Amino acid sequence: MSLTEDLTRLFEDAFTALNLPAEYAAVRVSDRSEMAQFQCNGAMPAAKISGKPPRDIAAEVVARLKDHPAFKSLEIAGPGFINIHVTDAFLSEHVQDVHLPHLAEHNETIVLDYGGPNIAKSMHVGHLRTGIIGDTLRRILKAAGFNALGDIHMGDWGTHMGILMMDYIRTGEEHVVMDCDLDDPVAVQALFDDMYIRYPKASGAAKEDESLMADARTATLNLQNGEEPFRSMWQKIRDVSVRAMERNYGDLNVWFDIWKGEADAHPYIAPMAEKLKEQGFLVQDDGAWVIPVEKNDDKKKVPPLILYKRDGAVMYGSTDMATIVERVQDFNPARMIYIVDQRQSLHFEQVFRAVRLSGIVRDEVELTFAGVGTMNGTDGKPFKTRAGGVMRLADMIEMARAKALERLNEASLALEMSDSERLDVASKVGIAALKFADLQNQRHADYIFDLERMTQFEGKTGPYLLYQAVRIKSLLRKAGMHDIEHCSFGSLLLQISETERRLALFLTHFPDVFKLAVKNYTPHVLCDYAFSLAQEFSSFYGNCHILSEEDEGIKQSRLFLCAQTLFVLTQTLDLLGIETPERM
Ligand code: ARG
Repeated sequence: MSLTEDLTRLFEDAFTALNLPAEYAAVRVSDRSEMAQFQCNGAMPAAKISGKPPRDIAAEVVARLKDHPAFKSLEIAGPGFINIHVTDAFLSEHVQDVHLPHLAEHNETIVLDYGGPNIAKSMHVGHLRTGIIGDTLRRILKAAGFNALGDIHMGDWGTHMGILMMDYIRTGEEHVVMDCDLDDPVAVQALFDDMYIRYPKASGAAKEDESLMADARTATLNLQNGEEPFRSMWQKIRDVSVRAMERNYGDLNVWFDIWKGEADAHPYIAPMAEKLKEQGFLVQDDGAWVIPVEKNDDKKKVPPLILYKRDGAVMYGSTDMATIVERVQDFNPARMIYIVDQRQSLHFEQVFRAVRLSGIVRDEVELTFAGVGTMNGTDGKPFKTRAGGVMRLADMIEMARAKALERLNEASLALEMSDSERLDVASKVGIAALKFADLQNQRHADYIFDLERMTQFEGKTGPYLLYQAVRIKSLLRKAGMHDIEHCSFGSLLLQISETERRLALFLTHFPDVFKLAVKNYTPHVLCDYAFSLAQEFSSFYGNCHILSEEDEGIKQSRLFLCAQTLFVLTQTLDLLGIETPERM
């Protein structure tokens, strides 16, 4: 139970004893920290139903609670607000017990779909947000006790495959693909680079020349029917692409439990279509097979979902529906969450409606489209390289690492390290900068990519948080606590000053903030929290002696605060998928 929940429970008892509805008893952190630590505003709504003046109700509640050891003071203010201060002993207990609450009642399975890179193309900056946010949500839900599974859901089945394969065939260079030795990293990279250059050219040519495009479509259809050489070529292209994805995502510390793609859903399409036809949901429209999904009260037109085009090819919506069939069969998830570019919201509206109306997904299963905004350049337009092209994700990661190294130099940090440790620290700092800059924004909002700002050691940045965490680690080491993770810090808070109390209070908010992030799928609230916590720590560190404190009891009490701050800060960073170096 978090501190606010503990207080709420005490207030609920008081409300119930006075025959007032317990739901009004909620206690929350006060908006005005100079007036109170916590507040309960339930006397006002309770007055409405009981007919008594709110201040009288507040007085009755206070009378019941004032002798409880949790409270230092309970004051009635204004029309009937109850302002609460807790005792340091009560606070201390909660600081000691600060933890991540278990929120999954039955270990429910949640499938998260994020990333979605297309094979045979380089991953680019557009893949950064969905990957980072999706992976963070996976971590958060897993920490809350859900069986959270991340699925990469690669785009490995569309016309882009046909375009690329036809180009190899037409130029007589199939061997470039077929002879690639997957165990040889140099060969893998070479093929990947070749595809990277070849695909945009081939795609441009096919858009200009209808006969090329027709060939590409046929090749795609042949692939989907399992014909050679398409099937083998495709397999090779996919394998090589997966290696590149593993590297990019690995660098970002973004993980997936399931490495499947659109192709894996293909076998489910035909049986699904049969059933939908029988049920009358799938109908013919101008030669295509579609599922009408509009509703009477639609404000905007929602077009039917196309399952088969006139030429019999399947579409993006077909694979997404079939993937849902597959996921229901394999995992029976309680929820499916899609972390995808906001601009695909209509597509998911169609898919969700189609699977609901046909009963593929039961009513009680949650389907959520958690759309993400775009990462823009400093000009406010979607981020581009200096030359105006799309930036490769690998290049962006390199840029962030190089900048982080520069920053470490500027700040004279990580100086006495071996080159390899320094590079490792720079890498962690660079990735922390990228991820934190992304995660601190509301999920659906666009934001501006500003490498200069996000890599600074001051301000609301990933590097600032790492720096604070490392500083606490080093302080605890100096105090002789080496195995920080396995130490038990049993000390209570002793004779604390207002700065210490503020930090302690802030630590106890952690479980509530975590719950909010779980409930609304909003990692940014954890970012806000981590930043404010680091700031509270900073002022505590600036105001209080720690290692130099002569009173041993007070020193232990302060070290206890340091240790709990480190614990909460690193837990938060872990949830955000940000690794903390040992030293800097
Ligand atoms: N591959 C898709 C694209 O590049 C993104 C996939 C998103 N996930 C999904 N289940 N449709 O636009």
